[in-house]
Amino acid sequence: MVTTKSAPVNQCSKPTGWLGRFTLWRMNSSHSKLTDWGLSHIPIESHYTILDVGCGGGTTISKLAAIATQGKVYGVDYSEESVAATMKTNTQWINRGRAEVHPGSVSELSFPDNTFDLVTAVETHFWWPNLPGDMREVLRVMKPGGALILIAEVYKGAISAVSKLAEKHAAQTGMTLLTVNEHRELLTNAGYSNAQVIEERSKGWICSLGGKQYNSQP
Ligand SMILES: C[S@@+](CC[C@H](N)C(=O)[O-])C[C@H]1O[C@@H](n2cnc3c(N)ncnc32)[C@H](O)[C@@H]1O
Repeated sequence: MVTTKSAPVNQCSKPTGWLGRFTLWRMNSSHSKLTDWGLSHIPIESHYTILDVGCGGGTTISKLAAIATQGKVYGVDYSEESVAATMKTNTQWINRGRAEVHPGSVSELSFPDNTFDLVTAVETHFWWPNLPGDMREVLRVMKPGGALILIAEVYKGAISAVSKLAEKHAAQTGMTLLTVNEHRELLTNAGYSNAQVIEERSKGWICSLGGKQYNSQP
């Protein structure tokens, strides 16, 4: 739900307390179909090392761990409540050594250069504080040949009521809402190769894909 800089918006950008726990529980199911649709656009191999940025309630990590059967999935989120929820959702994967969750911001990822085959970010990039810089930070931790996918149901020009409301109040909420073309430019300007944006206009869904070239400079 988007109103102004009120409690419901803050719970989406950085969940806290009981309302945050409730919001995360709700998002685990409300984002599930969108996430499946987005992930269907990329190959995910069984050995992949994957990072999910802004992991929220942790459902994306569960989905990825079930696909990357020989790999490992890491989550990062700057909300303590989100980290706790993701750990709870993924207790079995964590106990098996197939998932790990780290507190932290996308702006300063605590991973070495060239670590991940795939980075995912579902319904989160529009909250990042410095989108161009944060995209470069994500690129840093991607392996050459790796891929990023941003999945969202809120973007500029979408026909859905929630997107229109988000656009109207973006100045108050601090959301960075981009058009399809602006998403493509964001990826290209940050140094990603093969930038591609796929829109499911009737549902108001978007996914933006970019790769890291083998000769990419840090
Ligand atoms: C709307 S929720 C989406 C959660 C989850 N990806 C999903 O699809 O349900 C956005 C999440 O991104 C996290 N987030 C927002 N800005 C962040 C940042 N700068 N660094 C790390 N996490 C961030 C929030 O704490 C929240 O858990």
